Amino acid sequence: MKQVLNLKNAFKTYGKTQVLKDINLELNSGEVISLLGDNGAGKSTLIKCLSGLENFDKAKLTINEKKVNLKKYDIKSARDLGFETVYQESSVGLEQEIYRNIFLGREITNTFGFIDIKKEQEVSMHLLQNFLGLRGVGLSANSKVSSLSGGERQGLAIARAIYFDSKVVILDEPTTALAIKDVKKVLSFIKNLQEHEKSCILITHNILHAYEVSDRFIMLDRGEIKVDIKKDDISLEELQNRLLTIQNEY
Ligand SMILES: Nc1ncnc2c1ncn2[C@@H]1O[C@H](COP(=O)(O)OP(=O)(O)OP(=O)(O)O)[C@@H](O)[C@H]1O
Ligand SMILES: [Mg+2]
Repeated sequence: MKQVLNLKNAFKTYGKTQVLKDINLELNSGEVISLLGDNGAGKSTLIKCLSGLENFDKAKLTINEKKVNLKKYDIKSARDLGFETVYQESSVGLEQEIYRNIFLGREITNTFGFIDIKKEQEVSMHLLQNFLGLRGVGLSANSKVSSLSGGERQGLAIARAIYFDSKVVILDEPTTALAIKDVKKVLSFIKNLQEHEKSCILITHNILHAYEVSDRFIMLDRGEIKVDIKKDDISLEELQNRLLTIQNEY
């Protein structure tokens, strides 16, 4: 199986706080992994560093079997390497039209170099109808992002990842604060990603959601990986017990 990501010996401090301690992480093509752990464990920090929003203090990062120069690694290079991230604090672009949100920073241009709005709207409608399954009356590519439900907004980000052929989609707590109906949608979007041979890193506090869609579970505890296990090797109950035991250690 092809390895899309290999992170070795990653460290990160904020001031005097050691937030990530010697993290080793591998991700294969088409694999969905869940990143579990308590509040403040370092989950968001890890994915922010992976997606170029923040920098590791020290690490060795290999993406698609090529070594990455971390000194020059930023959001743009992460995207160019196929990483699409939906952040936890993602309130960006609510007042934006859906088609602008999809194509932001990667506009379709015509032969004269102008943005081809019509084409962008067409593609957006296609994604809304075929990927999100939206048939809502009055919904169009010109609707505001804020007119979508929470689950649909997450779906929009995932649809964008598929359209731009991202290799790895990172979702930071996509199901938190969603109604059950929307949670189901998001979980099915993640399964859809897998069918498209994309990899996914899912951060969640909900172990049931994690168990439903993931191939592997990684648990961070105060900046360290304490569990890295395949779904084939652990039942839901065993996983729950394992996490509880670690959390009760201190
Ligand atoms: N920009 C920052 N400056 C200083 N400290 C930070 C910063 N970002 C995160 N931290 C600290 O790093 C630690 C890990 O935070 P992080 O957001 O990665 O946790 P998390 O596992 O995502 O938690 P949650 O489940 O609550 O989202 C916390 O102690 C947090 O206070
Ligand atoms: Mg977080």
